This record gives sequence, structure tokens and C-alpha cells, in this order.
Amino acid sequence: LKRDLISIDDLTLEQIERYLALAEKVERLPPDQKRTRLPGRVLAVMFYEPSTRTRLSFESAMCRLGGSVIGFSEAGSTSVAKGESLRDTARTVERYADVMVIRHPREGAARTVAEAAQVPVINAGDGANQHPSQTLLDLYTIRKFFGGLQSGLRIALVGDLKYSRTIHSLVQALALFSGVEFLLVSPPGLKLPAYLKETGAAAKASFRETEDLREAIKRSDVVYMTRIQKERFPDLLEYEKVKDAYCLTAQMLDGAPKQLRVLHPLPRVNEIASDVDETVHAGYFEQVGNGLVVRQAVLLDLLGVAP
Ligand code: CP
Repeated sequence: LKRDLISIDDLTLEQIERYLALAEKVERLPPDQKRTRLPGRVLAVMFYEPSTRTRLSFESAMCRLGGSVIGFSEAGSTSVAKGESLRDTARTVERYADVMVIRHPREGAARTVAEAAQVPVINAGDGANQHPSQTLLDLYTIRKFFGGLQSGLRIALVGDLKYSRTIHSLVQALALFSGVEFLLVSPPGLKLPAYLKETGAAAKASFRETEDLREAIKRSDVVYMTRIQKERFPDLLEYEKVKDAYCLTAQMLDGAPKQLRVLHPLPRVNEIASDVDETVHAGYFEQVGNGLVVRQAVLLDLLGVAP
């Protein structure tokens, strides 16, 4: 039976832990041993929305495992422009590839592709819904910084908690680990959707809301910044009102606990000033780097190949 990676909600805590352990193994492998893992295998990338990190890290992950990559980063250059359906595109591409990665603006699009295709499908972001491989690399990053995903982690989620798919996946995943304290920092119109606080797993976590970023810096182990997701706003006037809601600067981090780490899925616009990059707290480029081994682990796992 083929497996997919569509939503964090589909995974148990044990399955998440397994992915993290697998990524650790992959990270320890010498490059020449990695290159022999997936020769002859083909990854298809289907990106209906812009991407730098997710697409290129999946492509790099596949190439460095010895496989090859086909696909598109702009649906306008494909037969989608002639009106081909997502389902038909999936049933075509699966004949050319062993595994598929899809990013699409519509929530549920990756699930549609997974149901249509016989090969494993990875959701690289569907609208404001989910971004599960980002979450696995976020967890991997937090674990590396803190030596584990210990009970009682205090994490501030800052910015666009309504539309950010990375936030939605991350909340669901972290809620599975016991005793996580979430501090939700957002403008009133961009609060975390209620359903994410109402799951069985979420009952083990605590959620508190504030609009005060300085309070979050004082009280957190991780400050997870997000971009205000301009492309999801039905009314751009509403975006204009909140686009500069939070901007973290190095000065705001003066006196913060040394172990505090600032993460961000990237790209950033102006929510983290560039002077933060030079502080001990900046963790977002290490986070980007971790995407490579985590996505290698996902590819190996879904293709049934040991690291
Ligand atoms: N974090 C993330 O998804 O980045 P990209 O949009 O560049 O892929």
C-alpha cells in the first residue's frame, strides 16, 4: 500500500518521531553513500505557487540521493493552461515519476492528487491548510537547538496565525508532545483558527493570546515569526492594515535569554530586521539547511528505501 505525506494530522507521535530519527541517520551518512540510495528513481515537482526553499530542497534532496527530477514551477507553462484538471494532471505525471511533490493554492489539492495517483504524494503546501514537510524540519530544528523536544517547551507563534499553513501544521504536531505552552501573538484579525485548539491532542497543551511581541520574547524558548500572507487576503486593504504589525529587531532581543531561538519558515518580508541575523538568537538559516536532510528522509521513507 503506498503512503503519502499530506497532513500532519494523518501522523501519530511515533511516526513523527520516526521521521526525525530517520533524518538524523541521513544527516550522519557520508555524501558518497547517499548518492547510491535512489538511482533510477524520479521525483516530479508540481508547483502551482511560488517557492524557493521547498522546491529546491526537494530537488536537491533527490539529486543528492542519486535520483532525478522532472516537473514545473509555473503551471502556466503546462496543459493546465489549456484547462486540464488537477486529477488528470496527476494521472499523467504519475506515469513519469516514482514520487510527486505538489504545492497548490487550493486547500485539499494535495489530497485530491494523492487519491488520483498510485505513487506517493507529498504536500508542499495547500492554500492556508497544511505544510507537513516544513513542520518536520521545524521540529528537527527545535530538537537540535534544545537537545530534544522536551516537555514544557514555550513557543511564541507570531504574525499571521490565520492564514499561515506552517503554523497550522506546527501547532498540530507540537500539541502531540506533552505540555507545550503556546503564546499566540497576532493582530486581532489574524488569530489562530479555533479548530486547532479543540483537538484531543491540543488538550495537553496550553494556549494564551497576546498582541505584545516584547512579552513573547521574555517568556519563550522559541519565537516563531511568520510573514503576513498577502496572497491569502480576500481584501488587500485589510492586508495593508496589518502588514507591518510585527517587526523583530536586534534591539528588542537585548537582554533576552541566551537560549532563545528565533525561527521563521521564510521568506521574510519585514517581520525580522536584518540585524537579527547577527545575533546568537537567529536560527532561521540553520532551519532552512535542515530542510534538506528532513526531505531526504521523507523521500527515502515513502519510497521504502533504508537510509
Ligand atoms: N518555507 C517555505 O515554504 O518556503 P518557500 O515558499 O520558499 O518554499
